[in-house]
Amino acid sequence: MSTAPGYQSPAVTVASSLPKRPKASSVLIVPVVAADGDGPGDARVVATDLLDAAAVGEIESALRALGAKGGADQVTRVVAPSLRVASVLAVGLGSAREAWTPEAIRRAAGVAARALSGTESVITTLSELDVAAAVEGLILGAYRFTDFRSAKTAPKDAPLQEITALSTAKGAKDLAVRGADVATAVATARDLVNTPPSHLFPAEFARRAKALGESVGLDVEVLDEKALDKGGYGGIVGVGKGSSRPPRLVRLTYKGSGRKRKRVALVGKGITFDTGGISIKPAANMHQMTSDMGGAAAVIATVVLAAKQKVGVDVIATVPMAENMPSSTAQRPGDVLTQYGGITVEVLNTDAEGRLILADGIVRACEDDPDYLIETSTLTGAQTVALGGRTPGVMGSDAFRDRVARLSQQVGENGWPMPLPEELKDDLKSTVADIANVSGSRYAGMLVAGVYLREFVADGVQWAHVDVAGPAYNTGGPWGYTGKGGTGVPVRTMFAAIEDIATNG
Ligand code: BES
Ligand code: MN
Ligand code: ZN
Repeated sequence: MSTAPGYQSPAVTVASSLPKRPKASSVLIVPVVAADGDGPGDARVVATDLLDAAAVGEIESALRALGAKGGADQVTRVVAPSLRVASVLAVGLGSAREAWTPEAIRRAAGVAARALSGTESVITTLSELDVAAAVEGLILGAYRFTDFRSAKTAPKDAPLQEITALSTAKGAKDLAVRGADVATAVATARDLVNTPPSHLFPAEFARRAKALGESVGLDVEVLDEKALDKGGYGGIVGVGKGSSRPPRLVRLTYKGSGRKRKRVALVGKGITFDTGGISIKPAANMHQMTSDMGGAAAVIATVVLAAKQKVGVDVIATVPMAENMPSSTAQRPGDVLTQYGGITVEVLNTDAEGRLILADGIVRACEDDPDYLIETSTLTGAQTVALGGRTPGVMGSDAFRDRVARLSQQVGENGWPMPLPEELKDDLKSTVADIANVSGSRYAGMLVAGVYLREFVADGVQWAHVDVAGPAYNTGGPWGYTGKGGTGVPVRTMFAAIEDIATNG
């Protein structure tokens, strides 16, 4: 199972009208809203240009008979014999409006895809409202991870195989391809997060990162435990030394085309499992620490996506990978290590391991003289306390932090800007080393981690730190286009930032 294939994205075709002879098993997905005129509670079909009036009438009267209201995320399945499809799924967008946000379309598409689990072929008019968002939502809503199910519990039905997105917009084809590429990158990150720690350990993670990078022509460099030791990567070595499965540092380089292009460094936390080490975590929910490489997964998927989309910037991903285990070779609370670059750290809590591997990664990344640095990690439980399970905390240099948070909101990942108060640095004073890895207080845990990382960012580099402890992994029920498990956050935020830098510098 180590060559697990992961999720195969469905094929996407764009058409400007309903196919004359659709597959008999196809389901047509249409957006609906609550009608204002003809009787309360009735649903009205939106984007009707692509359907003839008789078919629209047929769908609307079937919806009326069922009392469907068109509320946001409501789905209703009806038959429309005049259309040559198996059935029609109406998905609610809420109240009638001139335009819906891309995120509303993405969510509706995701809800529809989840409701149609087991359907192999869909046609949709949601794409008339926003083709990229509709395709993204469908692919992500249809996502499933079955690599570790034997015939006993594997789904009997095939996953979604083909999407026909109806659109009359100019450039619809390119937008659909783009949507599919973005969704496929998110799915790649989800696959990596969903792969259990038994099967995804640093060497295997590095192998997969290398294969993904080489598949799109990236330069890939992998440092093994010997190279890390020799190179002075004290944080990665220190965290990794409690495990029989040694650490790695992976570097993936994409060179964009165009003169005078900007350089973006990405750094992602790749703890393939976080027991806490000697400062061991409680048993309850420890299994969720399989998601502690969510930042690394997102960074790898994003640099691959940037290459696929041939973005006009350089993107260099630096990905430290380690397993945080307790053992007789593990680092102890009170140990002192030397981060890459020379700063010494007193490790007061071995469960604050992310910042130790990230500090090495950040210093290494800054040696490439990037203009911008985005680092992302499942760094603190305090992130979920402060912002909950769906809102990444964005810290860093003021202007770039605000820019990344704004772009994150635009793409529906909803990052929110948070401060890094100067005075918190005093809490990281050590009695023996340059700095301690934790403060003595429980206050502002998310911000303290950001303050620690700031010490390692080179002057002049605009940076953003995105804490996705909650958002990278959905421990609740499915919603919108997000199922249980790995979410792929913040791939779309980072890609939006890279594209924005390519356009605006
Ligand atoms: N990987 C955890 C953070 C985490 C917690 C991620 C919950 C996802 C869900 C991180 O390594 C950690 O253990 N952080 C400690 C820091 C503390 C020791 C300062 C924490 O949050 O308790
Ligand atoms: Mn930890
Ligand atoms: Zn961790």
